Amino acid sequence: MNLKTSNMNDLTLIGPFKQILPMTGISLKGSIPDSELTVLEDAGILMEDAKIRSIGKFSELQSEHTDAEVFRLEGDHVALPGFVDSHTHICFGGSRANDYALRNAGKTYLEIAKAGGGIWDTVTQTRKASKEELIKNIVKRANRHLKNGTTTIEVKSGYGLSVDEEVKILQAIKEADTKTSANLISTCLAAHMLPRDFNGNASAYLEEISTKLFPLLKEENLTRRIDAFIEESAFSETQIASYFKKAKAMDFDITVHADQFSTGGSKVAVAFGAVSADHLEVSTQTEIELLAKSDTIATALPGASLGLGCKFTPARKILDAGGALAIASDHNPGSAPMGDLLTQAAVLGAFEKLSNAEVLAGITFRAAAALRISNRGKLDDGYLADFCVFHTHNFNEILYNQGNLKPCMVWKNGELVYNKHKTP
Ligand code: NIG
Ligand code: FE
Repeated sequence: MNLKTSNMNDLTLIGPFKQILPMTGISLKGSIPDSELTVLEDAGILMEDAKIRSIGKFSELQSEHTDAEVFRLEGDHVALPGFVDSHTHICFGGSRANDYALRNAGKTYLEIAKAGGGIWDTVTQTRKASKEELIKNIVKRANRHLKNGTTTIEVKSGYGLSVDEEVKILQAIKEADTKTSANLISTCLAAHMLPRDFNGNASAYLEEISTKLFPLLKEENLTRRIDAFIEESAFSETQIASYFKKAKAMDFDITVHADQFSTGGSKVAVAFGAVSADHLEVSTQTEIELLAKSDTIATALPGASLGLGCKFTPARKILDAGGALAIASDHNPGSAPMGDLLTQAAVLGAFEKLSNAEVLAGITFRAAAALRISNRGKLDDGYLADFCVFHTHNFNEILYNQGNLKPCMVWKNGELVYNKHKTP
């Protein structure tokens, strides 16, 4: 997907854009009226290597930087920061189309899981896949997300559920990162569920993971993030509290699958200073206020609500309480098979009555904060030159089209990595 031909050390100026939404000057937490959005008109982006050197009026940038190579746009174009998908499970083998059919025919997610389907089915299929097959699948999925404007993608393990299989998955993610222009950020989700073939209880499994897998993660630099699913079908608050204590002691960032079917996870997330608490479909005002007062980013996963046919995360209430809301796809074979962040964010906006500013913040700089990454999600001097370009005259058209208006170009680290007019 590498289509740019210019010399990487030169300055490149792209424009003129009808509009650029830099997503700057907006706070990390709380509600955002659309009037707070900065909209730059007839603007350009000046890039140097992988970074943004300057943003401003195209004509001014052009006359100030006559040495810049100009990438001239004809027609109306709008630029947004490259999207950040802060929660996916795109490393998996097989499909769960049967689960989906069963669920829609009346069985619940938990019933299917208890009967041997669900996450365990994907674990079996992922274990059967070679590392090379997993890499191929991750790259294929990541490239599709990249084409749709997502330049940074978090990818969880969690379908291995043994030390060796989790290592295989995390190595596959690391290797896949070198084979796609998207940036993959890995997370260890060995605490996704108690593996059926584990000879022991949940605490013993978590003990094995923390003593044997955590050191390997550090040694091989496989991830800096630990996730856990706190739920009746997975792990209890107490079990995860002692697991997180060990992860914190080893300096891992913490993130939690919280309050998806029952509450409890978000409390643990806040207590451990988690970077994010994700799902939150059943969070009540108590959990919402707890999260809003904390530095933990609340992440809505509308793809899981659409996949499971259940209610959306109370995004409006989280923002009104002063919380920081990110929106991610949760792309996985079970609960969120669609994997289309822009569509899902637009739909969440319509159901939860979110301003366009809140939706766009949720898939850009607020999602970057959920990954504790500060050099992307905004278009500003010194930030990575990661942006997506839409062939339209007004940014409001993008969410209005509910994902049907796709980017015509995507730039990552200052390189044109997708151009609709030229198939790679
Ligand atoms: O985020 N909730 C737990 N984990 C995933 C689902 C994984 C699966 O069903 O395979 C989620 O929705
Ligand atoms: Fe998930």
